Amino acid sequence: MANPPTRFAGVKGNAVLLAQNFVAAVLHDGCLAVDATAGNGNDTLFLAGRVGTGGKVYAFDIQSAALDVTGTRLKEAGLQDRVVLIRAGHEAMALHLTEPVDAFLFNLGYLPGGDHALFTRPDTTVTALNTAVELLKPGGRIAVVVYTGHSGALDESRAVQNMTSSLNPQVFGVLKVQFANRAEHAPYLILIERAIAKDEDLAQQTDC
Ligand SMILES: C[S@@+](CC[C@H](N)C(=O)[O-])C[C@H]1O[C@@H](n2cnc3c(N)ncnc32)[C@H](O)[C@@H]1O
Repeated sequence: MANPPTRFAGVKGNAVLLAQNFVAAVLHDGCLAVDATAGNGNDTLFLAGRVGTGGKVYAFDIQSAALDVTGTRLKEAGLQDRVVLIRAGHEAMALHLTEPVDAFLFNLGYLPGGDHALFTRPDTTVTALNTAVELLKPGGRIAVVVYTGHSGALDESRAVQNMTSSLNPQVFGVLKVQFANRAEHAPYLILIERAIAKDEDLAQQTDC
């Protein structure tokens, strides 16, 4: 198959950058964002750049190697003070934060260049997504990058689709975004936005 085009919708044409682009639209100085899978720190750095000096990012990973790389990159960029790195599964997110969140990124799968046996799992991913939708502010956004190529990934993909397709459509908009002309196992996106339904929701939404 020929190489995919380098740009789509104004950003480099891959699922991860489209996910970042989707959440970036609701992030500004003072916001609270969560990277549910810190990995090599690309998404954490991106979120840290968006939330400004007054904002905060919580980044989770089960691997200390991932958090070490992420921490080093944050220090190099001078962004470490606005990021809390948490060595825990994102399924335990509710133990670490209770305040309303503006945006979540879930980039599922395994650590590129790391141990490919340590990948995200259906049950824990769904638990974390349930917490995320609970914590999401009105107008807030969640982007999930879903992979289907590695062992166990199809089960996780099905679980994510089951959970997200059952969200109340009066409260959440849910979009599945898939490149129709790429390889069968190319990653796809689940994009979630919490509706702003009432005046008090609007007031809550604008406070970051
Ligand atoms: C595709 S990588 C993430 C890429 C990363 N966001 C980046 O920008 O480089 C997936 C990561 O999820 C982590 N992971 C696996 N299970 C997890 C869990 N239950 N909670 C949090 N992270 C988990 C892996 O250790 C791996 O680092």
